[in-house]
Amino acid sequence: MIVLKSRAEIEKMRVAGRIVAGALAGMRELVRPGVTTAELDRYAEDYIRKQGGKPAFKGYMGYPATICASVNEVVVHGIPSGRVLNEGDIIGIDLGAVAEGYYGDAAVTFAVGQVSQEIKRLMAVTEECLARAVAQAVVGNRVSDISHAVQSHAEANGFSVVREFVGHGIGRKLHDDPQVPNFGPPGQGPRLKAGMTLAIEPMINLGVYQTVVLKDGWTAVTLDRKASAHYEHTIAVTEDGPDILTAL
Ligand code: MF3
Ligand code: CO
Repeated sequence: MIVLKSRAEIEKMRVAGRIVAGALAGMRELVRPGVTTAELDRYAEDYIRKQGGKPAFKGYMGYPATICASVNEVVVHGIPSGRVLNEGDIIGIDLGAVAEGYYGDAAVTFAVGQVSQEIKRLMAVTEECLARAVAQAVVGNRVSDISHAVQSHAEANGFSVVREFVGHGIGRKLHDDPQVPNFGPPGQGPRLKAGMTLAIEPMINLGVYQTVVLKDGWTAVTLDRKASAHYEHTIAVTEDGPDILTAL
């Protein structure tokens, strides 16, 4: 069931969303060669708690950390560790916070120092996919108009779209209805209404679209071990158009 939120509830989600955005802004300053993903995780957890929120992922289905730190061929759900970031890596940082019972969820992919032209293009196109998807989140459209916006832009640029992980409704729960795939024909699925709140999160691969989950039960990597990028915003569908609640 898709839960519609009142304007007051959307403002509560914006509180959580601002905490998420602030933590990601801090990540942008910290990501550089030599930093470990565990250090990034510690910063994010401290920041979220200081702002009066709680990490949304820690403890969720047993997930052990505040952020997902997904380096290079890792698509999503990389677990923070002593791994040191090196020049030329990319890292997708996904984080969620809950405040006053409402969730925010967002992700950004950062370059570590200089990265190749091909990787720069992967990151730019994935961020454009998110922008185009958000632009489809308007009253009267259907969920798959969002999906189609992502797939058409990614594939027109020669990249592939992850199928095994999708975006989602969000609100009083981290994951709620509806599912928001990043692929599919337009004009299908539930019709978008004012008060729907969605986490839209394109995951785009340089090579093949298939993924595999490693033995830790979380880390999802590309089947061909080529790079993957991930960007995510929590948005509200409103009569005035899409409202990005995790705006940086
Ligand atoms: N943003 C991801 C998602 O929406 C993060 C989930 S990680 C988990 O699915 F640890 F919370 F599962
Ligand atoms: Co999400």
